Amino acid sequence: MFDLNLDPYQHFDRLMKEAVALKIPEANAMSLSTVSQEGMPSARIVYLKEVSSQGFVFYGNYESHKGRDIENNPNVCLNFYWPAIWQQVRITGVASKVSAAESDAYFSTRPRLSQIGAWASNQSEVIPEYNHLALRVEEFEKQFEGQAVPRPRHWGGWQVEPHEIEFWFGLTGRLHQRYIYQKSSSGWKTFMRSP
Ligand SMILES: Cc1cc2nc3c(=O)[nH]c(=O)nc-3n(C[C@H](O)[C@H](O)[C@H](O)COP(=O)(O)O)c2cc1C
Repeated sequence: MFDLNLDPYQHFDRLMKEAVALKIPEANAMSLSTVSQEGMPSARIVYLKEVSSQGFVFYGNYESHKGRDIENNPNVCLNFYWPAIWQQVRITGVASKVSAAESDAYFSTRPRLSQIGAWASNQSEVIPEYNHLALRVEEFEKQFEGQAVPRPRHWGGWQVEPHEIEFWFGLTGRLHQRYIYQKSSSGWKTFMRSP
């Protein structure tokens, strides 16, 4: 039975471990929803890379569509769905950049081609043709030949500090269970919602 007395991070950790143990493909893939300055929403999949006391961390290009959205409006929503265990987790919160040191540390663990890719791809920008990217990769491979690839300043992590986390458990007859944790000045307020 779900225990609302437990910390939501503990529940999340438990679920993620369960998903990984069951070899659910890409268990750390989540949708990230942002809203543009004009109020237009968009969502895309990104990988959850870390969960810390600061929040849920993912990485990408700060100048991308999502990066621009977050700059204008840091309110975001993350969503996981693991069909094999019929569970969904929705995290609503505020995104902020992780420290440069943290981004550097993570960037240094990435495969070299991914590091070159972070330089080569002006993520979300219109390109004249696919080959444009290959040429940019060549260019940066030459530039960084024989040396470690530094992290571009336009690439790094965000952490999402949750305001609300909802755990959804699928059950038959559409009588699903929804457990909500809402941040309040005195800690987490917990309640259930009708499915
Ligand atoms: C399984 C999967 C994982 C992905 N992981 C990331 C990621 O961690 N970071 C990222 O920037 N894009 C990731 N992408 C690509 C994004 O979905 C998206 O295309 C890209 O970030 C550009 O989005 P934007 O133009 O809305 O900013 C991933 C895509 C898939 C399908």
